[in-house]
Amino acid sequence: MTPLAGAPAHCTDDIVVPRQTRQAYSDAPRCPVSAVAATPPAERTIEPVDLAAAEQFLDLYYSENPAPVAYEERLREVRTEIDETGSYDHTPEELAFGARVAWRNSARCIGRLYWNSLHLRDRRMVSDPAEVGAESVAHLRESTRGGRVRSTITIFAPDRPGRPGPRIVNEQLVRYAGRRRPDGTVLGDPRTLDLTTRALALGWQPADPPGRFDILPLIITDGADRATLHDVPRDAVLEVPLSHPEHAWFADLFLRWHAVPAISNMPLEIGGVRYPAAPFNGYYLGTEIGARNLADPDRYDMLPTIAERMGLDTSSPRTLWKDRALVELVLAVHHSFDRAGVTMADHHTESERFLTHLDREERAGRQCPADWSWIVPPISGGATPVFHRYYDEPLPDTRPAFLPPGS
Ligand code: ARG
Repeated sequence: MTPLAGAPAHCTDDIVVPRQTRQAYSDAPRCPVSAVAATPPAERTIEPVDLAAAEQFLDLYYSENPAPVAYEERLREVRTEIDETGSYDHTPEELAFGARVAWRNSARCIGRLYWNSLHLRDRRMVSDPAEVGAESVAHLRESTRGGRVRSTITIFAPDRPGRPGPRIVNEQLVRYAGRRRPDGTVLGDPRTLDLTTRALALGWQPADPPGRFDILPLIITDGADRATLHDVPRDAVLEVPLSHPEHAWFADLFLRWHAVPAISNMPLEIGGVRYPAAPFNGYYLGTEIGARNLADPDRYDMLPTIAERMGLDTSSPRTLWKDRALVELVLAVHHSFDRAGVTMADHHTESERFLTHLDREERAGRQCPADWSWIVPPISGGATPVFHRYYDEPLPDTRPAFLPPGS
């Protein structure tokens, strides 16, 4: 199957990390990309596709697209296929539309303005973990485009009755390893402690000596939940070393981040069919890296170091040393990505775009569910327009959708 040629995309998905103190849903993980997918039970039973879900999707598809085949005919086809096999194949057009609408429905994503230009790599024929690994690496290369990041999704084999699809255990295609040192501190990204342990147990040979930004291999499970390791070659991962426009010392912190955020553990559900491996990427917002990944106390925890280098008075929170360090860190991220020619949004521009998106959705007669606590950026919330309003409540049963990891 050939990938669809799409219009140039700008940003995909999703997920701008929520404020730590706000918990919109008590049972939701603080950040959906945080959880290492729970190992699904062995011998997963896949139920036949629910015809009502298929029909609902076809209704949506036909209401928004010019269709090559009459609705009634397509519905009959799908019904017969479900009766005979317990599932059905989406046409390439249905698949692309389904993936795009799953993005459009992602209540936590501020970057949805360009939902309709998500680029699809249709890899439904691929279920062998080694091929899933190779195609995931190809996804990275293609979506990176040397820095002109393109919003892309690769869709692997779906779950079918008696034939579960493959899964990617890593929350993202690119993650940095995290290992506990003997003194209890963590080298690298504390978020991946469990994933790193699992990779090591599967035989991963880490860099020697280990560093703070070692790229983890992919852990991929087959239909029988057997896990294997798959290398992510360094040259498939564009990274940006961080420097600051005014503070020369900043480069000596040897911080870096990767160019492409590619969520890989959220199953995609379209018309009752579940695609458990469907990695998708957009481009980064500076705040995700500067105000969360490198700043959160349970991540790289860089604020105390940066404040010290800036010579700030850290004796009281009222000096706003954290706030001042945060701004300089986010600024360094913007500066460095710009200098490297790598696509990156800022929270002011992206907030404006989101309001344009809301406007367009309203004019199209659609609801646009949004989760305030995820949409509002982690710094300067009130200085962005997305702060000053409410949104349609997200509904958990909305489809097509990207589902929580482990579903
Ligand atoms: N917040 C996550 C991270 O920092 C990435 C989530 C997706 N972000 C995006 N801009 N598409 O790695």
